Amino acid sequence: MNDITSLILTRLATDPHFLSGEILSHEFGITRSAVWKHIRLLRNDGYQIEAITGKGYRLGAMTGRPIQAEVQPLLNCQRFGNQLHYHRVATSTNLLAKALAGEGAPEGSIVVADSQSAGRGRMGRTWVSPPDLNLYFSLILRPAVPSIRVPQLTLLVAVAIHRALHALSPELAPMIKWPNDILVNGKKLCGVLCEMQSEPDLTHFVVVGIGINVNQHEMPAELEKIATSLLLESGKQCSRPELLATVLNQFEPLYNEWLLQNDLGFILPYLEKYSMLQSKRVTIDQRNQHVNGIVTGIAPGGELQLQNDDSAIILISSGEANLRKT
Ligand code: BTN
Repeated sequence: MNDITSLILTRLATDPHFLSGEILSHEFGITRSAVWKHIRLLRNDGYQIEAITGKGYRLGAMTGRPIQAEVQPLLNCQRFGNQLHYHRVATSTNLLAKALAGEGAPEGSIVVADSQSAGRGRMGRTWVSPPDLNLYFSLILRPAVPSIRVPQLTLLVAVAIHRALHALSPELAPMIKWPNDILVNGKKLCGVLCEMQSEPDLTHFVVVGIGINVNQHEMPAELEKIATSLLLESGKQCSRPELLATVLNQFEPLYNEWLLQNDLGFILPYLEKYSMLQSKRVTIDQRNQHVNGIVTGIAPGGELQLQNDDSAIILISSGEANLRKT
C-alpha cells in the first residue's frame, strides 16, 4: 500500500462520517479521480468502503490487518509506530528494516508484513511465516549506548511481549526462555531476533525483529510438538493490530528506562519471576562446546547465570539453552 493510500485509510478510519471526495482531494493535494483510484486500491485490499454520490466515502469494517490505520489509533507511544511500513508480502521484515535504517529512518519506525517469504530466525534458521495469521514485525532503534549493551534489548523486549500477552490473554501463563523466546505450556509462541550495525563505542542502529504466532490454527507437522499459537492455547482469535500496539505500548517506556540505566537491573525481578529456566538443569549449546549447569538467575548484563558441574558460578552470554532431564 503506498503512503497516500494508507493516509487516506487512516483518515477514513478515524472519522465515522462520510468524507467527500472534495475534502479528501483538498487534504491530500490530489485530484478527485486520484482519490477514487486510492479508494479502489483499498477495496482491492479488502476494505469495505461505502461510496454515496453527494456524500462521499465511509469506511465499513476494518480488516484486522496490522496496518497503520488499524494500529495507530491504539498506540500510546511518543516515537514507536509513528511510521509503520506495511507489506502484504515481505522477504523478511528485518531485512527491510535494516535497509530503511541505513537510509536514515527514524527511531521507532516499524516494518510489518502479513507474510514473509524468507523469514529469519536465530542461528541461521528459517521463521515459518504463513500469510494473514500471525505477526511479523521489526522495530528500528537508535540507542545511544555502547554495542556491548545491545544484547540486553532481546530480554527487554521479551518482558514487553510477556506483559502484552498477559494484558490481552490473562488466562495464559507465558514464560520467558533466555535469551529470546516466549513459550506457553512448554511450546514456542514467539521469537525475537535483534540485529545491529555498530562500532564498539557506538551503536548506529538496532533492528528488533519479532515473530508471534497469533491466529495459526495448526502448526506444520515438524513444529507441532515445539511450537504453538495464541489461538491454539486460548481458543480465541486475537486482533493482530491490538497485539502489535500493546507490545509497542509496553516496550517504549521500558526502553526509555533502560536508556537511563546501565543494565537490566531494574527489570531483573520480573525476568527471574517468569524465567522458564530458573533453577533448572540445562545444557547450553554454543558453536563449539556444550556447557552444563543449574540456572541460578539472570545477571544485570543479561547473561544467564549458571552453577556448573564444579559448583562454580559462570555467566553465559550467548547460545541456546536446552532443559536436561537428569
Ligand atoms: C527466533 O526465535 O529464532 C527469532 C525469530 C524472529 C522472527 C521474526 S519475524 C519478524 C522478523 N523478521 C524476520 O525475518 N525475523 C523476525
